[in-house]
Amino acid sequence: MDKLVITGGPRLCGEVAISGAKNAALPILCASLLSAEPLILSNVPDLNDIGTMLKLLAQMGVKVEREGNQVTLDASGLHSPLAPYELVKTMRASILVLGPLLARCGEAHVSLPGGCAIGARPVDQHIKGLLAMGSEIAVEHGYVVAKIGARTGKLKGARLFTDMVTVTGTENLMMAACLAEGDTVIENAAREPEVVDLAQCLVSMGAQISGAGTDVIRIRGVERLHAACHRIMPDRIETGTFLCAAAATGGDVRLTGTSTAYLDVVIDKLMDAGCEIVGARSRSLESIHLIAPPRLKAVSIRTSPYPAFPTDMQAQFMAINAVAEGTAIIRETIFENRFMHAVELQRLGADIKIDGNTAVMKGVDRLQGATVMATDLRASASLVIAGLVAEGETHIERIYHLDRGYDHIEAKLTTLGAAIRRERA
Ligand code: EPZ
Repeated sequence: MDKLVITGGPRLCGEVAISGAKNAALPILCASLLSAEPLILSNVPDLNDIGTMLKLLAQMGVKVEREGNQVTLDASGLHSPLAPYELVKTMRASILVLGPLLARCGEAHVSLPGGCAIGARPVDQHIKGLLAMGSEIAVEHGYVVAKIGARTGKLKGARLFTDMVTVTGTENLMMAACLAEGDTVIENAAREPEVVDLAQCLVSMGAQISGAGTDVIRIRGVERLHAACHRIMPDRIETGTFLCAAAATGGDVRLTGTSTAYLDVVIDKLMDAGCEIVGARSRSLESIHLIAPPRLKAVSIRTSPYPAFPTDMQAQFMAINAVAEGTAIIRETIFENRFMHAVELQRLGADIKIDGNTAVMKGVDRLQGATVMATDLRASASLVIAGLVAEGETHIERIYHLDRGYDHIEAKLTTLGAAIRRERA
């Protein structure tokens, strides 16, 4: 297994381009299943999770063509509504094929994703919503076996209410509703920008959707969807990750192909920590310029659904707080086990005390390089940030986690002056 070797110290300076959003691209790739006409996507990030999703869709009979960051998907030859365990176990987001397959083919056999390092990750809300839309669902031998009961062969529009805010749950149900008979209302819907990007893509394919970005989304079912082109939105979590890396190293970095538009809370926290963000409030900027102080002030955070502080940025802020001045409290309210990076940061010398879903941190003057292990995607990013500021070399093992969600991260960090290299095991 590959590892990353980082020599801490250099300030990050310069400019890098941010890639398309993993968590927008994944549901949008699945949206191609809803139509018998081509979907042409641009700004698709080059990530392992994207590769896995394209492999899964191709196995179902979707024709996939990829040229750089453009992907063309043609599901006219869709023949097998099956998502096998071998692929689903490597990428939980595969559950996003369930709604589209059911709506387009009238049936779906999708392996249960199973848990991951950060939590059990159940999909009960996805199933509850599809049942309410008239499907018949059994869970057999680890698979969700779904079919449409109605003799019309179509899902029925319904009023849906999710017990908690669920991003992929909202996305699955929104996609299924596009081809249902009648109107669907999703209450307590996720408001994440990636849900809005998916809705915009679906509307360009001919879907009738309103309210995306609010907690009530209305969908009027249509007979079929048609060909469309869509540009994937910038990755706000990659953006936030690079902002944290620049902030931790006292750097001066400009990120292009992105904006502060979806990161208000993160931007506010970085400014509270002492960073200057040029044009922080300007929506028109297609870039973000961060100038960091020599040492950050510690900032407390509490994760919550959008537009509050994103759970996907929690690990990165734990890294910057590790060397900031003062004490910070971090509360993780979304996932039950998303502090796996804390013990690895402690190996680097961080002062962190964990109590349930709360971490109390006291910034230290300097971390010491060591060998650490990545446990999940954002934990890996946290360890990279810590390695950039630790004294000496930090070896990060199991970086296949990182490759799932960051597009050529070591090349981008090298461009900014980091001393980082990949060692193939
Ligand atoms: C999406 O995961 C993202 N993944 C995650 O990003 C992100 O952390 C998460 O939303 C929260 O923002 C993608 O979009 C592909 P949820 P998702 O359903 O949809 C519980 C990353 O690092 N829940 O919003 O799986 C669940 O256990 C990844 O890029 C149920 O109980 O998350 C969690 O506690 C990690 N039953 C909470 O809801 C359900 O049926 C929110 O989960 C669904 C969810």
